[in-house]
Amino acid sequence: MATVSPQVESRAAELLRRLTPAERLRMLAGDRDLYRDMLDAAGPERTAPLYSAAGAPRLGLGGLLCVDGPRGVARGVSTCFPVAMARAAAFDYGLEERVGEAIGREARAHGANVCLAPCLNLLRHPGWGRAQETYGENSQHIGEMGAAFVRGLQRHVMGCAKHLACNSIEESRFTVDVRVSPETLHRVYLPHFKRVVDEGVASVMSAYNSLNGEWCSQNHRLLTAILKEEWGFDGFVMSDWVFGIRDGVAAVNAGLDLEMPSRIFMDDRVAKALERGLVSQSRIDDAALRLIRQQVRFVSVGDGEYGAEIIACDEHRALAREAAAKGVVLLKNEPVPRDEGDGPGRPLLPLDPRSIRRVAVIGRLADVPNTGDRGSSHVKAPYVVTPFAGLRAALTPFGVDMVHDDGSKSERASAVAAGADVAVVVAGYDYRDEGEYMGRFPPAGFEKLLPRPPLRLVPKALMAAARLRRGQGGPLQGGGDRRSLTLHQAEEMLIESIAAANRRTIVVLVCGSAVLMERWRHAVPGILILWYAGMEGGHALADILLGARRPSGRLPFAIPTSADHLPSFDPDAAVVEYGELHGQALLDHRGVAAAYPYRFGLTY
Ligand code: GLC
Repeated sequence: MATVSPQVESRAAELLRRLTPAERLRMLAGDRDLYRDMLDAAGPERTAPLYSAAGAPRLGLGGLLCVDGPRGVARGVSTCFPVAMARAAAFDYGLEERVGEAIGREARAHGANVCLAPCLNLLRHPGWGRAQETYGENSQHIGEMGAAFVRGLQRHVMGCAKHLACNSIEESRFTVDVRVSPETLHRVYLPHFKRVVDEGVASVMSAYNSLNGEWCSQNHRLLTAILKEEWGFDGFVMSDWVFGIRDGVAAVNAGLDLEMPSRIFMDDRVAKALERGLVSQSRIDDAALRLIRQQVRFVSVGDGEYGAEIIACDEHRALAREAAAKGVVLLKNEPVPRDEGDGPGRPLLPLDPRSIRRVAVIGRLADVPNTGDRGSSHVKAPYVVTPFAGLRAALTPFGVDMVHDDGSKSERASAVAAGADVAVVVAGYDYRDEGEYMGRFPPAGFEKLLPRPPLRLVPKALMAAARLRRGQGGPLQGGGDRRSLTLHQAEEMLIESIAAANRRTIVVLVCGSAVLMERWRHAVPGILILWYAGMEGGHALADILLGARRPSGRLPFAIPTSADHLPSFDPDAAVVEYGELHGQALLDHRGVAAAYPYRFGLTY
């Protein structure tokens, strides 16, 4: 479907005509200097650069200036929103459009005109490391959330639907071959991408993985037959970063339009192939035209309000708090008699601060900034309101005594809990447990593909830089897939001991996907999912626990009672088969009940 008017189309065609063949060819790869990026990533600023590409200054085309990502602008300091999965739990498309617009506005304030979001990969298995970046298990919901995000975002910058397609395992993403039947591909793994293409997204990012034996960025069926011909996509397709391509000629012929972030494979080998007729000039022209078309389309987009003052402005902070609160899913809220012998009592939540003297907030995650993984979607927030800080801010005005304990010594934590009217245990994960993973790069054999010896140094140096950027010395720890879906054993034991010490115990889960909770969920009266709730998460938690906002979130995926009820998931496998069923549909097919089914959520 056409995303531009006839006027924009003819303007773009005119600009293409004025470009020399060499200039057209040069547009097909990003401008970043990987060596410089390695140094910057290790440098004091340690922020993501503006990834630039496809400019033609001679003709006044400024080019693409790209930033990540789905949680906010991953450059400098920006509003850190709740992760996409938390927003998916709100099931509020108007809200997602507003979040997209705020991120688009801040992207412009950071000097960008492309935001590399939304991430649309379907949650096939809750162990996927980047589950937090997407919108759940249901294709229709993912598509509507992504379309809403793009509607808002593209009032200011170009969007990028990623990662096409079937990128739902993290640790093997650079090498895994995903086998899926055409029927399943079209019925389960593509409709949400098509929905966002139909919404007019300016670009698509091809995935790192291989699909049915061909790298996604070199997959003609995917990029040309389906995306461009069947769906009529007239935007541009960019590769994922550095390791997205292995053969520039194969990629451009398959329908890739732009190698990012720098020219490794779309180099003189493509020019030579053009001379030999192995690549057609019409394909080069089509790629360049797509890049020009979207730049012309967006050159006049926006309202000019992009001063630095809008970054993390009051309006965006309030939106982050609203989105975090609306994403909270209340899974359990049972009556707890105030004292032995009382009647059945009333549901534990909402808490009435006037009838509480002391609240204990317990756990290693209770009072630490924890907004999600530290991969490409990581956002540096100006501040983060922790769960403890948010509850303290809401309760101390009522004279409630607040006690925090990190839970590292069970007896001490139990005593703290026993001495309180209510115990809140904050449990779950952080960037070390799940998230984007750089541990297995460069992919085996990739370095020998690099065209020139000096470039062969790049991948290892990039890994060192990535390690530094994540502030981790030594072996790279962060991110990866979850091999176990339960909480850490120490946290499960902590929950059991706190529940034994205080009947009025609430478990608050910080996570990006399903947690198996069979060991402890029957032992506590209150359970809710806060997710990686962004910079305002602590205030949002207090809004829900005290009833300032009624919980309205629902599960964007089913939570099973056992990992046995899930599809196979092997982050070490070289080849994986994606079947027709996953999530709630698979539980239904197997005739097993979920612990909490898709779209489950309680309210007050
Ligand atoms: C990463 C991610 C992609 C991100 C890109 C730029 O490898 O896979 O989602 O947009 O690189 O940071």
